[in-house]
Amino acid sequence: NSHLLEEPSKEHDTLIASLPLQPSIERPFTFQGNIRLYKDVWMSEVIIRGILVMQQRLKTRPTDIFLSSSPKSGTTWLKAMIFATLTRTNYLLDQHPLHTHNPHQCVTYMDLGFAIGRSQIIENVPSPRVMSTHLPYSLLPYSITESNCRIVYVWRDPKDVLVSMWYFVQKIMGGADKIATFDQFYEMFYQGLNNFGPIWNHVLGYWEESKRRPEKILFLKYEHILQEPVKCAKQLAHFLGCPYSEAEENQGVVDQIVELCSIKTLKNLDVNKDSNRAMSTTANVHISHACYFRKGEAEDWKCHMTKEMAKRLDTMIKEKFKGSGLHI
Ligand code: A3P
Repeated sequence: NSHLLEEPSKEHDTLIASLPLQPSIERPFTFQGNIRLYKDVWMSEVIIRGILVMQQRLKTRPTDIFLSSSPKSGTTWLKAMIFATLTRTNYLLDQHPLHTHNPHQCVTYMDLGFAIGRSQIIENVPSPRVMSTHLPYSLLPYSITESNCRIVYVWRDPKDVLVSMWYFVQKIMGGADKIATFDQFYEMFYQGLNNFGPIWNHVLGYWEESKRRPEKILFLKYEHILQEPVKCAKQLAHFLGCPYSEAEENQGVVDQIVELCSIKTLKNLDVNKDSNRAMSTTANVHISHACYFRKGEAEDWKCHMTKEMAKRLDTMIKEKFKGSGLHI
């Protein structure tokens, strides 16, 4: 599929091939091929290529909105929420495009887009554009960090991220026997070797920047949104510059948006149930729309790890978060 790649550049290939490879084990941790260390972050080769192209090509506009997250932290939910919030007056909510489109079709995943030859398409999208990235703050192109545009960041209890990732990779690879065991996933995660890891650096990078520029970086936690979805929906709309009017609030629009974007609604739509519908991503990997919806709950880790495993991971992350004001 090299024809899909954006002007495959010898320079990029040479650079990528020179980066340290993730220690390999018998069965994979990811569906994305080789994982390499680029500027202290573990990422698949295709995404590193995306970063290199993006640095050259991305022209951020002040009106752009970026959603950032470590994978499996609530990206799909926030894509739906941001898209629904911004477009709520364009449609009757019962005819909203989210009924017929997966949230990933509504918000472009740009790290991959730039890697597979879609920079011109991304460039042609009219303002305000909404795009998503899994890059840590430290790796965002200057075009973004210097543009003063808005960034929404969502994070989640790393223990649940790990569980969610394990199921996601299983679904894509076709079964638990095709991928590393849960214990191996745990160990890799603990050592920070997961895709876009270490996760504590990912979260801390956006946390620190959101403290510096709270009006430009909205820092959300998955578990808080689960607890207070309406409050978070209002906070999001305010941040995006389109707060709910009193009339909208009285008409129940906030609740309707929350309901539309809930996992219960989205998971049961034909567009998201049909396992044949898939997004073509890299190389030969196809991710069905259904893969993005599983339980959507907090603390599913309790069904998958021992208390000791949980404590060990928590203790390490608490240590990393020490002094930052951030708590799991
Ligand atoms: P679980 O595997 O724990 O159920 P991402 O979107 O970043 O890939 O994360 C996927 C996780 O978010 C999965 O978690 C998935 O079920 C959950 N999810 C997807 N859509 C959601 C929604 N609308 N509301 C809440 N959680 C959602």
